[in-house]
Amino acid sequence: MNKIKIVITGGLGFIGSHTVVELIESGFEPIIIDDLSNSELFILDRIVKITGFKPKFYNHNICDYKKLQQVFSENKGISACIHFAAKKSVGESMEIPLMYFKTNLISLMNMLEVMHEFKVRKFVFSSSATVYGQPKELPVTEKSPNQKAISSYGSTKQMAEDILEKISATGRLHALSLRYFNPVGAHQSSLIGELPKGIPNNLMPFVTQTAFGIRKELTVFGNNYNTADGTCVRDYIHVVDLAKAHVSACNYLLNDYGKLSYDVFNIGTGIGSSVLEIINTFENINKVKVPYVIGDRRNGDIESIYASCDKANQILKWNAKYSLEDMVRDAWNWEKSYRK
Ligand code: WQD
Repeated sequence: MNKIKIVITGGLGFIGSHTVVELIESGFEPIIIDDLSNSELFILDRIVKITGFKPKFYNHNICDYKKLQQVFSENKGISACIHFAAKKSVGESMEIPLMYFKTNLISLMNMLEVMHEFKVRKFVFSSSATVYGQPKELPVTEKSPNQKAISSYGSTKQMAEDILEKISATGRLHALSLRYFNPVGAHQSSLIGELPKGIPNNLMPFVTQTAFGIRKELTVFGNNYNTADGTCVRDYIHVVDLAKAHVSACNYLLNDYGKLSYDVFNIGTGIGSSVLEIINTFENINKVKVPYVIGDRRNGDIESIYASCDKANQILKWNAKYSLEDMVRDAWNWEKSYRK
């Protein structure tokens, strides 16, 4: 029986690769486009090892429209697209904003144009909690006002959501934006996981690399916030839970007969955890020390955010199942496996 074909841009990346695995295991046929600028080719072999299925892979930069057209003309009957491919470092986006606006917006426009050309109407977009800035009320809901993004990375996500809303209103697109909170952890097989290039920007890979001895110590960016222990609070979500949310989003789009519109969903756990809680949980579960020092606040950091995911629970029939303990255990198992 022909499987439902889904194009996954950035499909060898951290969230993309975990989503490809879940899609295959849910009976879909993912088609991966990835330019390997922030991912590694061996992840494709790992996907095969986990699932027993080798998805088609195109090593293309989707800012090249001709290359993108080639994928769609060679694969008739694509039902939907999930768009992960983007630059995603908050810090880097402040140093080279033009590259972020060009890359993240041209890639999005190219995807929307090629989908229109080949009459593909279902689209899942990788958005981010960063669109909220520092919410005035917590937990944050999809109705919470967006604040003007501090980083150029956040601006590209806000602009992308606005573009999707306007194009969906024309009736030629049914798009969902999934606003991720903080994805961490790794597949239970330890065959795929987070692969930051160079010095990690994000907390969890810095924790695992410090525990492994690659980094001398972790700097906690400030402990004088107005939170229980003075360190910033985030809504950490297991990457496999996040991947499953994309399967739920595809099922919703493909079964929601004929409805062509736009919607946004928070994808988190509803639980806020501080930086020190992450460190302590990691040490307690994995029985390994994470040397750290308290440093200055990091520019652009918000104090506290965690999600209400009632909308995704009710409409997408999705909710997070993995605990913080699962997250730190799987992140550590992946770090040790990758460094073997
Ligand atoms: C988490 C907390 C830091 C590193 C960003 C983007 C978001 C998404 C995830 C792309 C903060 C603290 C961190 C360190 C620390 N990006 N920290 N020492 O900034 O919440 O979210 O990354 O998908 O869109 O906004 O994540 O992991 O960088 O930081 O103390 O060495 O850990 O201050 O409080 P963030 P993060």
